[in-house]
Amino acid sequence: MHASPDLPDGWRLETLCEIDGTNAELLRRADAGEPEGLALRSDVQSAGRGRRGRVWNSPNGNLYFSVLVKAEPSVAGQIGFAGALALLEAIEAVVGRPLPELRCKWPNDLLLQRRKVAGLLLELAPKRGQVVLGMGVNLVPMDVVDAVYPVGSLAEFSIAPQELALNVCVAFARWLETWRMMGFAPLRRAWLERAHGLGEVATVRLVNEEFEGTFKGLSEDGSLLLDQGGEGVKSVSAGEVFFGVGV
Ligand code: BTN
Repeated sequence: MHASPDLPDGWRLETLCEIDGTNAELLRRADAGEPEGLALRSDVQSAGRGRRGRVWNSPNGNLYFSVLVKAEPSVAGQIGFAGALALLEAIEAVVGRPLPELRCKWPNDLLLQRRKVAGLLLELAPKRGQVVLGMGVNLVPMDVVDAVYPVGSLAEFSIAPQELALNVCVAFARWLETWRMMGFAPLRRAWLERAHGLGEVATVRLVNEEFEGTFKGLSEDGSLLLDQGGEGVKSVSAGEVFFGVGV
């Protein structure tokens, strides 16, 4: 049993039973004038969104969580790294020990033993220069047959969604402050320490293109660096990344 942390000053966490999506609801709230620092959690989502227009399957028992943050659109992508680091820390805080097998996968996923257990989705709320960062975390076993990546869950740790949400708020507020005070460098460093696939061959899929290279690291703004041997190092700012053979 772990004591639930208090929310950082200025943060609010609202819990809903059901909503179309916590990202969709926060975007509506942002549009209506909500300031930074509101986090929403829902037990269930009826129309959860994944990246690239995919559906995010959202049954009861998992974490569906979004937070509203003030950020310039040009650097909004870096918020995703703050979110992934916060989520990783929050999971370890709730479990009560380090989980070295829990890794960050570029750009915005968490893997446990090479299976995707969490995905993050950033969406712009342009009216007031805000972004919504959403997180979906599989806390119960998930039976997804047509997933793009192998799917896993954190079910073995029996994590309660509300306790995880509170811990995410605390850790995220800390990473956000670090980012604002010190820039992206500390996030980049921390993320690389927990990165999945460094030194491995990665296949990157874009809409009309696919290429390979060795995953060498992150650029100073968070792009993926792929060493393509004689062709040099390619910097990738968006795309789907697959590691391992047979992808
Ligand atoms: C991905 O494709 O990996 C990103 C998935 C993001 C899912 C979360 S669940 C909470 C929030 N609300 C949504 O509709 N999507 C995000």
